[in-house]
Amino acid sequence: MWKGALTEALAKYNTDRSILFYALATLARDPAPIPRVRYVVHRGFVNDACPEGEECDCLLTTTDLRSAKAEQILEASDAPVEIAWYIAPERRQRHRFPDHKLQGKTSKLDWDRERVRVWNSLSETMQSAFYGPPPGQPSAQVKDMSSNMMANNTNETLPENFALVVIDPKEVDMLDLQHARRTIFVRQEKRTWTSSEVAP
Ligand SMILES: Cc1cc2nc3c(=O)[nH]c(=O)nc-3n(C[C@H](O)[C@H](O)[C@H](O)COP(=O)(O)O)c2cc1C
Repeated sequence: MWKGALTEALAKYNTDRSILFYALATLARDPAPIPRVRYVVHRGFVNDACPEGEECDCLLTTTDLRSAKAEQILEASDAPVEIAWYIAPERRQRHRFPDHKLQGKTSKLDWDRERVRVWNSLSETMQSAFYGPPPGQPSAQVKDMSSNMMANNTNETLPENFALVVIDPKEVDMLDLQHARRTIFVRQEKRTWTSSEVAP
């Protein structure tokens, strides 16, 4: 299954941080639809601690709720996103996850706990960005400001603008360039998957 191949590749090359970056595309309305794409960091899968759980094939990344991407994602509850992920060392594999929705509200999972778990995995530099000015604002004194705010944040609550982005795949398009193999995985009911080989 695609998740096995993906986690195996990530584990194999875990000294290379760059394999964790993928491109996340969203649609902005300006007012006509316009594509936007940027890199984000793979933060594992939902409920990584319990890999047999309901959302175990949902990918996780994080963002600032004040960012443009968050606005685009939140604009509609069924906002489509797509990620493209090129894993160069692993026989030049490319994974593409088209037509996904973001979800996460309705399940039984403890999302507060999940949010704390992922927050704790971020570096201090990453965490401090959430205490600075909104992304895209002039950056004068950003560093001082965010470190002061970090130091003053004595309570245990996370910044409200820290958000998990949950990518709930409906389809995965996996291309292995070295062996010229392309496999399309499609999610079925009850979160099982079928796969078919197609021309690259
Ligand atoms: C390698 C790399 C990893 C990044 N990871 C993230 C991330 O995990 N989350 C995030 O919000 N932005 C991340 N960024 C910054 C985004 O690519 C983007 O520049 C920023 O979030 C603003 O995007 P937006 O205006 O489309 O929201 C990363 C940038 C790079 C170059």
